[in-house]
Parts: sequence; structure tokens; C-alpha cells
Amino acid sequence: MKTQMLSAQRPEDIAAAAGLLRNGKLVAIPTETVYGLGANGLDENAVLRIFEAKGRPQDNPLILHISEPKELESICHDIPAQAWLLAEHFWPGPLTMVMPRGPEVSDVTCAGLDTVGVRMPSHPVVQQVIKASGVAFAAPSANRSGKPSTTTAAHVLHDMDGRIEAILDGGPCEVGVESTIVDLTGERPRLLRPGGVTPEELRALLGELDIDRAVLGQISNDAVVRAPGMKYKHYAPSAGVYIISGSSEAAARYIRRRFGPGDAVLCFAEELPLYDGCNPTAYGSENDVRTLSAGLFAALRDLDRPDIRTIYARCPEGGGVAYAVGNRLKKAAAFRVVDAEHEA
Ligand code: TXA
Ligand code: MG
Repeated sequence: MKTQMLSAQRPEDIAAAAGLLRNGKLVAIPTETVYGLGANGLDENAVLRIFEAKGRPQDNPLILHISEPKELESICHDIPAQAWLLAEHFWPGPLTMVMPRGPEVSDVTCAGLDTVGVRMPSHPVVQQVIKASGVAFAAPSANRSGKPSTTTAAHVLHDMDGRIEAILDGGPCEVGVESTIVDLTGERPRLLRPGGVTPEELRALLGELDIDRAVLGQISNDAVVRAPGMKYKHYAPSAGVYIISGSSEAAARYIRRRFGPGDAVLCFAEELPLYDGCNPTAYGSENDVRTLSAGLFAALRDLDRPDIRTIYARCPEGGGVAYAVGNRLKKAAAFRVVDAEHEA
């Protein structure tokens, strides 16, 4: 199959993407978080092809993307008041809600669960395509399963060339990490994946929020977890990633002492001068965590090379968006964190 490159700048290409979706084809489309690899979420055969193209385990459900909050009513049932409150504050935007699934949504999309994840993205291109196609857009991140999510059309092409019908190029994604997922089907709202909408913002609005254990640490592959995708090795380049925490200076001392052939450094822009001779890669500025979230996956992809065996990485600390960046980087590192202040 030839993968067609479309441009979001051309109205006829938006129409072409919508037409492909209506005909059961697979199209990668930019959202404000990451590129989504989508199909008509109510067309079972099309959805099956998403799993095939990604090499994704079939027990890992997909998110449905909608263009108006009221579309929730055709996809979910028993919608809690909290959902409308969250929609009012954070939609369109990087927030996915898990709710009881309605009868129209196929088993394949939800991997047999009786719940469904729904999100109304804010990116104008995906909104236009959803509206023009008239379909609920089922879309996981547009990467091969296990690899970092894609934040540019070139990265999508790298992973999906020959596997999907088209890629709609809308430039790089602004947020850069996948949406926040909150499960509203339990007694208390539960954070399943941190993202651009922060735990603090959710707590301020909901009054309470539990954090799922899959967010906090490594989960074994056979564990039963609320967001099945969180247990898989994810976001990971082929090299072993180690997070080196502590002050910039202590981390640089630790890393420089060990640095050798096959090693790479992933750091903050402010730290580049500390790694003279180590060919460091900066993924954003420590003083502007949104640049770190926007740049993380592209940097992990750049460092996914056969000649790199170990990546020493610097990770932002704290809440807000840093919590999401830290979560993705820690997952890439299989939660291996070394405290440079206490290690010689
Ligand atoms: O920002 C995003 O959410 C991007 C863009 C394309 O919208 N999508 C995305 O999809 O990250 P994906 O498939 O790569 O990640 C979706 C996560 C998976 O971990 C999956 O297990 C979880 O959401 N999920 C989906 N439906 C669920 C459900 N009903 N219950 C619990 N977890 C669910
Ligand atoms: Mg994904």
C-alpha cells in the first residue's frame, strides 16, 4: 500500500482525509497532543486494521474523538455530572474521560471493556476532519506499538509508511505528550494517565482525585490495570534509559564520570554547556516545562539509534505538566532513577 501525504493547509486534502475515513480507511491526523492513527470508530473492520497497523495488543482499547460534547450521549450512558463539568472546563483539549460505553460502540474499539474513553481534541485540523467525515474518530497514537508517540508527520511516516492509507501533515503537535486520562466509572475519579490537563487542575474542579498505581510505578505485563495501555513497555527507544536526578552540577559530574562510547545525554537546554564533548541532546528548557513536553518524544526518537546503548536523562520534578513529562520519561526508563547527590 502506498501511504499518501496530505497537507492540512489544503481544504481539498482535509476533504480527502474525511472521505478516506468514511470509506473505512486509516488516516493519521494531528491533534494538539500527538498524531492520532484513526479510523471510523463504529466500523469494526476499520478499527481492526488500526491494531494491525500498530502491532497493538487487542486487549488495549482505543479512544474515541468527538467534535461536540453532546456527542457523548450517543457513545456513553449514565454520564456523571462530573463529566459535563470537566467537559465545560477542559474541552476541547487534552483530556480523555472513561465512562460506561453505549451500545453503538464496538467491542473491538473498547477491547471488550464495558467502558469507553472519549476526548474532544482542540486541534483545528482534527476537528475539521471529524466534522467533515461525520464519524466518531477512533485513534490511538500514530506510532508502532512500544515506540514513542509521534509528534510530527515525518515521525508518523517513519513508523507507518506502507501500513496506512494517508497522513495529514499539520505540523508539529503543541502539547507533545498524550492526553490526561481520568476514569469516572468508580466511586472517586481516578487519574489513569497524566497529561496536559494537570492533577492540580482536576482536583481543583472535582475536589478529589485518586492516582492509579500504573502512573506511579512499573506494572507487570499480566497485571489487571484500569488503563490497559499503561502496563506495556512504552515510549521507549531501544537503548537503556537512566534518569539522573539531583542538581544540574551533581548530575553532570555523575554522568561525565561514566560517559563512554555508546552513551548519550538527554538534558535541559540550560545544561548543554555542562556536557561539552558528550554530544548532548536538549529536549526543551527547564524554565518552561511546556517546551519539555513538546520536545520529549522527538528527542527520544532521535536517540533511538543502534549506536546508542545507554541514555542518561534529566527529568523535571514536581507537579503540573512536569508530572506528565516525568511519567513518560520514567516509563521510558522503566522507573530507573539514580540520585546523583548520593552516588559518587
Ligand atoms: O492524546 C491522546 O490521548 C492521543 C491522541 C491521538 O488523542 N491518543 C492516545 O491513544 O494516546 P493511545 O491509544 O495511544 O492511548 C490510549 C490509552 C491507552 O493506555 C488505553 O489503554 C487507555 O487509553 N484507554 C482507552 N480506553 C480506555 C478505557 N475504556 N478504560 C481505560 N483505559 C482506556
Ligand atoms: Mg499510544
